[in-house]
Amino acid sequence: MQKILTIIGARPQFIKASVVSKIIQQSEGVEEIVLHTGQHFDTNMSDVFFNQLGIPKPGVQLDIHGGNHGEMTGRMLIEIERALLEKKPDRVLVYGDTNSTLAGALAAAKLHIPVAHVEAGLRSFNMQMPEEINRILTDQVSDLLFCPTTAAVTNLSNEGFNNKPAKVTQVGDVMQDAALLFAEKASRPVGGALPDNFVLATLHRAENTDSPVRLAEIVSALNEIHVKQAPVVLPLHPRTRKLIAQQGLSLDVHLIDPVGYFEMVWLLDHCDLVLTDSGGVQKEAFFFGKACVTMRDQTEWVELVEAGANELVGANTSRIINAVKRDLGRRVSDSEQLYGGGEAASRIVEELVSLGRG
Ligand code: UD1
Ligand code: UDP
Repeated sequence: MQKILTIIGARPQFIKASVVSKIIQQSEGVEEIVLHTGQHFDTNMSDVFFNQLGIPKPGVQLDIHGGNHGEMTGRMLIEIERALLEKKPDRVLVYGDTNSTLAGALAAAKLHIPVAHVEAGLRSFNMQMPEEINRILTDQVSDLLFCPTTAAVTNLSNEGFNNKPAKVTQVGDVMQDAALLFAEKASRPVGGALPDNFVLATLHRAENTDSPVRLAEIVSALNEIHVKQAPVVLPLHPRTRKLIAQQGLSLDVHLIDPVGYFEMVWLLDHCDLVLTDSGGVQKEAFFFGKACVTMRDQTEWVELVEAGANELVGANTSRIINAVKRDLGRRVSDSEQLYGGGEAASRIVEELVSLGRG
């Protein structure tokens, strides 16, 4: 029996891992232990996803969050190494590009435990982003690189992965699997009336929230859109809540607490436009047929921009407002199956099972 230890810790990783865990549970010859680093810890940033999406209860629960990047990653490294020595997995599975991803991959690689990376090969080419550092280093120490897109495979090829023993496979995007699997569970958020014909916004990227100038520009755009164009519904990430308060800014839109995935799927399905700086939400807009305006200067999901489904507007008030004017109500369609059509998790598990214990 091959023992896989999955390392997750942040909201998008719970959603990504849920679909892979389901297939592992249905497969012979492979078992999974989940390690939760504790990076995200509020009930509505963590437990809600385990409960809704049927993710196995963590076999190892750490409680590491906050602090600077080095401190958080370093503390995770120490405790993940300890868990790996105790659990002795045949392989470690990591997702995406957070500090939990890097700490997990590095701890495993140092113990010569093979690492599989889901969402390998994505690049923004902006080394100021903590995520870019995390994903480049994680790819370097992984031996199985599961790429979501053609662009991700090309990035790895450009970095010389064709000449390395690591195996690169384009499997599609597990977030599309999740969107397809859970769409029928869509559930209207409770706790107050919501406006009709709304813009669904999310905002948490460090490059926006940690820059007083960028944050003020974005807040000013959101406030104006809410009054003049369409109501803005914004489930507010705890990072953003803190920084808005610290900067003394006033965000006058329809704010709600972060929601579970079923509620998020409902919001995606019912909105007239998505306005975000999230990685995952850019693609989910596409899966639900909505245009997306992205408040960043680069995206890893370049195929959405090429397909005309997503527009990058940075953190400039008037660019954001003008893009929303253009795109409100615009529908997009995934005629080319850019993200694999919902088979990513089964392709990943098939490959893991075929490798056996190595
Ligand atoms: C992290 C990831 C980012 C990802 C995001 C998903 C890194 C470097 N960043 O960013 O790539 O897009 O998760 O949402 O790993 N907090 C709470 N409660 C929680 C979670 C966080 O209060 O449940 C607070 C933390 O204490 C901290 C702030 O929010 O003050 C930021 O959390 P952190 O995990 O450091 O980074 P994110 O911005 O969430
Ligand atoms: N999401 C959610 N509830 C929310 C906001 C986001 O379930 O209140 C989901 C969203 O649908 C997507 C994932 O969280 O699946 C994206 O996470 P986030 O934007 O925090 O991180 P990123 O993708 O930018 O790393």
